[in-house]
Amino acid sequence: MTMDDLDQLVARAQQDFAAAPTPAELENAKARFLGKTGRVTELLKALAALPVDEKKSRGALINRAKERVEAALHERRQAMARAELDAQLRAEALDVTLPGRRCGEGGLHPVSMTIARIEAIFASIGFDVADGPEIETDWMNFTALNSPQNHPARSMQDTFYVDLKDDEGRWLNLRTHTSPMQVRYARAHAARYAGQPSMPDIRVIAPGRTYRVDSDATHSPMFHQCEGLWIGENVSFKDLKAVFTDFCRQFFESDDLELRFRPSFFPFTEPSAEIDIAFASGPLKGRWLEVAGSGQVHPNVVRNFGLDPERHIGFAFGMGPDRLAMLRYGIDDLRLFFDGDLRFLSQFR
Ligand code: DAH
Repeated sequence: MTMDDLDQLVARAQQDFAAAPTPAELENAKARFLGKTGRVTELLKALAALPVDEKKSRGALINRAKERVEAALHERRQAMARAELDAQLRAEALDVTLPGRRCGEGGLHPVSMTIARIEAIFASIGFDVADGPEIETDWMNFTALNSPQNHPARSMQDTFYVDLKDDEGRWLNLRTHTSPMQVRYARAHAARYAGQPSMPDIRVIAPGRTYRVDSDATHSPMFHQCEGLWIGENVSFKDLKAVFTDFCRQFFESDDLELRFRPSFFPFTEPSAEIDIAFASGPLKGRWLEVAGSGQVHPNVVRNFGLDPERHIGFAFGMGPDRLAMLRYGIDDLRLFFDGDLRFLSQFR
C-alpha cells in the first residue's frame, strides 16, 4: 500500500464519518476503520510480516494515517454532540414573550352570595344568624313542629331517612326544612333566661341546606332554606308584614314591589300565609311570585320552645334562597346552581 492509498483511506474515513447521520452509525463507521478487524487495524497487523526497517518506516506512516482517522472521528463526535445540544436548546427554549399562565380565580357561588345578602339585611334589622345540623331528629323536624307521628301533613315533605338513632334513641333523617332551627334556637334562648323576670325577644334567621325526595327544573333533592323567627310579648302579623316588606325591598333593591299574604296551611303556624311578591316594573312586572311561607307560631310549638303561649307570641317564616337567587339573576333552571359548570358559575364572579 502506497502513501496515496493511505491518504485515500483517511479521506474515505472522513467521508464515512461525515455521512453518518447518528451517533450509532458513527460508531459503526469507526469499527470499519479502527475496530478489531477494521481497515487500519488490519494494516498494522500486516506489519508483522515485514522486515524490521520497513516495519519502522511503514509503521510510522500507518500510525500517522491512524491518528488522522481518529482526529476525524473525534471532530465528528464533537460536531454531533454540539448539534444535539443546539437542537435541545432550541426545543426547550422559553418564549418569554408568551402571556403567562394565569392561576384560576375563584368566586362565591351565587347561592352563597344570596345567603350572605339575606344575612346582612336581617342583621341590619336586629336578627341573629344561627346554624344547625343537617342530620336532624324526627322529633325536631316534625313532632316539635306540631306534626305528630303518622300525621298526613308529614307526607308533604318526604325525605331521606337515615337508619340511625341519636344518643337518646330518636330516629334521624336529613332535615326537610330549616324550621327545626326555630325549636333549637328558641329552646336554648328560653333555657338561658329561665327563672328571670323577663326575656329579650327571640329574633333569628337560620339559613342552610335542606333535603327532599324531589328533582326537576325547580326542585333539587338538596336545596336551601332560610328560616326566620321573632318571638316576644307583643309581636304581631303587622310586624311580620313590615319586616318582610323591608327585607324584600332591600333584597331586590326596589321600592317598586308589592307583597301579598295568601292564606295557607302549615302545621306549625296558625294562621298561616304564603308570601307573594310582584314587581311594578322589569321583566317580571305584574306576576305574583311565591317567595316564602309564614305564620303566627302555633301555641303547641311555642310550648315545645319551653315557653308559655299565653305570654310569648310571634311569627315565623321560611324562604328559599335558591328561588330568590333565581329571581334576582333571572335564572329559570334551579339545577344550574348545582351542576358545577364553570361557564355558568364564573358569570357571578
Ligand atoms: N318549613 C316550611 C316548608 O319547608 C316553610 C315555612 C312555612 C316555614 C311557614 C315557616 C313558616 O317558618 O312559618 O315548606
